[in-house]
Amino acid sequence: MNSKSQNSRQLYARLLRHVIPYWKIMVISVISLLILSSAEAAFAAVLEKMIDKIFVAKEQLYMYAIPAALVIISIVRGLMNFCGVISINWVANKIVMDLRQMMFERLLHLPVQFYNDNSSGNVISKIIFDVSQVTAAATETFVTIIRDTFTITFLIALMLYYNWQLTLISFISFPVIAFAVKAVSKRMRSLNTDLQDSMGDMTHVLEESVLGHKVVKVFGGHDYEKKRFDDVSNWIRRYANKVKITSTASVSFVQFITALALALIVFIAAKDAISGGDFTAGQFSAFFTAMGLLFSPIKRLTKINENLQRGLAASQSIFNLIDVTPEYELGKQLEQPLRGDVEFRNINFSYKNSEESALNDVSFSVKAGETVALVGQSGSGKTTIAGLLPRFYELEHGSIQIDGMDISELDLKVLRNNIALVSQDVVLFNDTVAANIAYGPLQNKKERDAIISAATAANAMEFIEKMPDGIDTLIGENGAKISGGQRQRLAIARAILKDAPILILDEATSALDTESEFKVQAALENLQKSRTTLVIAHRLSTIENSDRIIVLDKGKIVEQGTHQELIRKQSYYFKLHNAQFDS
Ligand SMILES: Nc1ncnc2c1ncn2[C@@H]1O[C@H](COP(=O)(O)OP(=O)(O)OP(=O)(O)O)[C@@H](O)[C@H]1O
Ligand SMILES: [Mg+2]
Repeated sequence: MNSKSQNSRQLYARLLRHVIPYWKIMVISVISLLILSSAEAAFAAVLEKMIDKIFVAKEQLYMYAIPAALVIISIVRGLMNFCGVISINWVANKIVMDLRQMMFERLLHLPVQFYNDNSSGNVISKIIFDVSQVTAAATETFVTIIRDTFTITFLIALMLYYNWQLTLISFISFPVIAFAVKAVSKRMRSLNTDLQDSMGDMTHVLEESVLGHKVVKVFGGHDYEKKRFDDVSNWIRRYANKVKITSTASVSFVQFITALALALIVFIAAKDAISGGDFTAGQFSAFFTAMGLLFSPIKRLTKINENLQRGLAASQSIFNLIDVTPEYELGKQLEQPLRGDVEFRNINFSYKNSEESALNDVSFSVKAGETVALVGQSGSGKTTIAGLLPRFYELEHGSIQIDGMDISELDLKVLRNNIALVSQDVVLFNDTVAANIAYGPLQNKKERDAIISAATAANAMEFIEKMPDGIDTLIGENGAKISGGQRQRLAIARAILKDAPILILDEATSALDTESEFKVQAALENLQKSRTTLVIAHRLSTIENSDRIIVLDKGKIVEQGTHQELIRKQSYYFKLHNAQFDS
């Protein structure tokens, strides 16, 4: 992942760009919060009149005016709070949705390499946990920043109006507070990044134990998994504690500084009053109240850093995902389907982060309509070859051509539309049998008849018919409710239905019993007649009829020819063959 570390300002700017489409609602929110923030100062001002006019001057009019003013201020405050908070939340939820959709969209177009490098738990946690952290930050931070800075401004304006000298004295505490806030925010951000990483790790451990529950049971992995989970949850506990300690300590510190300033003010005002100053009782109460009211917003502003830094750390993680370079998609479009002449030219390939090369100077060609088998020991590079054709990995050395065109120039969608793949590890979706067979753009388009005939050709109809709702039966998460051989037959039906000019079968029938395999084999051979096929099989009996057999050893082509030719050679293939037939 190309994790560019962005500074806070760049992160804000990027987040703000997501707010722009909703600026109208934001304006409503800002105005409401602004009006709301004047309420505190209004209360203090009312207090002054109450004391000076009612209790000191005993003016009748104020007997009604003051209570009425209090009620009106409360109503306005309630309404504005509601408008301000609801509208900002609406925007925040929109942004969360936008970001999630954006991340998911990006996820669908990330190269295979990304999935090799990042655990699924970490990726899932980014989209679920990190994004919600941004909501918390977006709403709370915004509300607090707008409302509280304006509250503070209004209160200070009021204080200046009453007595500017005293106000200036109270400012002494501000630089101290600002310094504390800055120090805390730095630590908060790094703590929150660690916390998020640990959350990702926890999701990762959880996911592996849930998905691998059978392996855990049979191989007695309980202690191992428990230790892993205990460790990571302990990390999370420790980070959560550190976050709380840092934030609470900073709040107490700020409270202390504020209290010191208050004490100083009281002392000076008292000295002034005793020596006969012109500060009225009402003004002093209002001034002192305003100063006291400053306390909460300042406290919230210091606390806001916790949310803000959590939000920034989360948005950093989100943007890191969004910034991963996607697969290169655009390229040559084609008028008609490919014919299927495939040529591999001098392919040298090694997986990232792996020292050994997986393929060594591999060259071969398959004419349109031919069936070529890839055989060789486990780890010899068969699946790697099959994966290069749909461009799961980009090539650095050598090239692959289809119909004389370099596949790296073709539009990725076009290329993949022309390839049907039955992979070694069949993936099924938690949907109906029919939706699994007609997966992708075929969904909705293909008629049931086509699905049924594909399923029939794959010898799958016999078990599908026995299911409660036939092809409309739900098969559970990753096909939990069907057997290994049944999965393979569904995957084959999916490939048959796709009807692409190039077919890749990677151990497509390995989980089938001899009789099913025989039947499916017949269907596959039928299918192979009209298209280019790469077939990978350990059971050599299934590929004897291929037009050509390519034997791989440690990433190199060591032999190729028909079954008869290779048997006559009495070399690699001959040995592989004999090994199977002796057993
Ligand atoms: N994603 C990956 N990252 C790093 N190395 C990999 C990756 N996938 C495969 N390899 C390595 O590349 C080599 C070839 O693997 P490949 O999957 O092509 O073998 P294969 O011939 O298909 O084996 P099998 O018959 O067991 O399926 C192996 O040494 C393997 O360890
Ligand atoms: Mg393989």
